[in-house]
Amino acid sequence: MNLKVKIGNLELKNPVLVASGTFGYGIESADFLDLNQLGGIITKSLSLKPRKGNPPKRIAETPAGMLNAIGLANIGVEKFIEEKLPLLTKLNTKIIVNIAASSVEEYVECVRILDKEEIDAFEINVSCPNVKEGGLEFGRSLSKVGEITGKVVASTNKPVIIKLTPNVTFISEFAKVAKEEGATAVSAINTFVGMAVNVFTRKPKLSHITGGLSGPAIRPLALAKVFEIVQNVDIPVIGIGGITNSEDALEFLITGAKAVQIGTHNFVDPSAPIKIIKGIEDYLRNFNFKDVNEVIGSLQLS
Ligand SMILES: Cc1cc2nc3c(=O)[nH]c(=O)nc-3n(C[C@H](O)[C@H](O)[C@H](O)COP(=O)(O)O)c2cc1C
Repeated sequence: MNLKVKIGNLELKNPVLVASGTFGYGIESADFLDLNQLGGIITKSLSLKPRKGNPPKRIAETPAGMLNAIGLANIGVEKFIEEKLPLLTKLNTKIIVNIAASSVEEYVECVRILDKEEIDAFEINVSCPNVKEGGLEFGRSLSKVGEITGKVVASTNKPVIIKLTPNVTFISEFAKVAKEEGATAVSAINTFVGMAVNVFTRKPKLSHITGGLSGPAIRPLALAKVFEIVQNVDIPVIGIGGITNSEDALEFLITGAKAVQIGTHNFVDPSAPIKIIKGIEDYLRNFNFKDVNEVIGSLQLS
C-alpha cells in the first residue's frame, strides 16, 4: 500500500505533518511518538532574531478549541541552527522550517541563512503582524503575499509553501498569487481571529485582546477554505484546521488536500499524528485502495 505523496519535488512518506507552533521545534515530543514515522515536521515559526512574544495571558480555552496570542515567541534562526537542527537532521522524516518576519527583507534573510542547511522545505507564515506597516497582517494583502513569495522563491531552490490566513474574503485569490509567484504549495489555514471575555473581571481573556482560534471548532471552516482553493487554483494544498483523527484527515484529503497538518490536537494527544497515519492506512485497506493518491481529490459532488 502506498502512502507516499508528492508536493512539487518534496516527497513525503505519508501525508501527515505536524503544524507549526504546536510541536515545538520538533524534538521536544520524541518521548511521546516515533518522529521518524511522521510525513514531516514543521517547526515553530522562526524569525531572524529571538522574540519574546506577547505577555501572558496568551492562551484561553474555548468550547471546541483554543485561542492563542503567543506572538511568535521563538529562539531565532541562529540558535535554531546551533541547538535544534543537529537533532532534527538525524531524523528520517522531512524537516520543514516555518518562517515569520516583520518585513520582506527579514523573510529573505532568514531563508538565505537557512538555505545552506539540511532542511527540506520552507513554510512561510504570512499571517503575522507587519510591524513596518502599522500592525497589519501581510497575509491580508495580495500584493504583499505576492512580493514575499516572489522574493523568497528567488532566494532558495528548496520548495516554498505559503501558509495562508483564513481572515480574508476569498482565500483562493491568495493561493493564486502564491502560485503565480512560484510557490510550490500553500498551507491552509492559519488561525481565525477570535476573542473571549472574562465576565467576572469584564476583561478580555487574552492580554492581546484578540487571538487565533484553532481546534475542532474551525474544522468545517478550514475544509471550506481548502475546497475553495482546490476548486479554483491548480496548486498543491496542505490542509490544516481542527484535525483530531483519521476521519477528519480524510475529509481534507478527499476534498483535495495533498497532505494535512495536525495542530491543536497535539496538545490533547501528542501521539495522535501516528494514530492518524494508521487510521488512514486502515481506511485504504478497508475500501480497497492501493494508494492514498487514489483518495486525494476523490470528492463526489454529484
Ligand atoms: C499555540 C499555537 C501556536 C501556534 N503558532 C504558530 C506559529 O508559530 N506559526 C504558524 O505558522 N502557525 C502557528 N499556529 C497555527 C497552527 O499551525 C495551525 O495553523 C492552526 O492552529 C490550525 O490548526 P489546528 O486547528 O489543527 O490547530 C499556532 C497554533 C497554536 C494553537
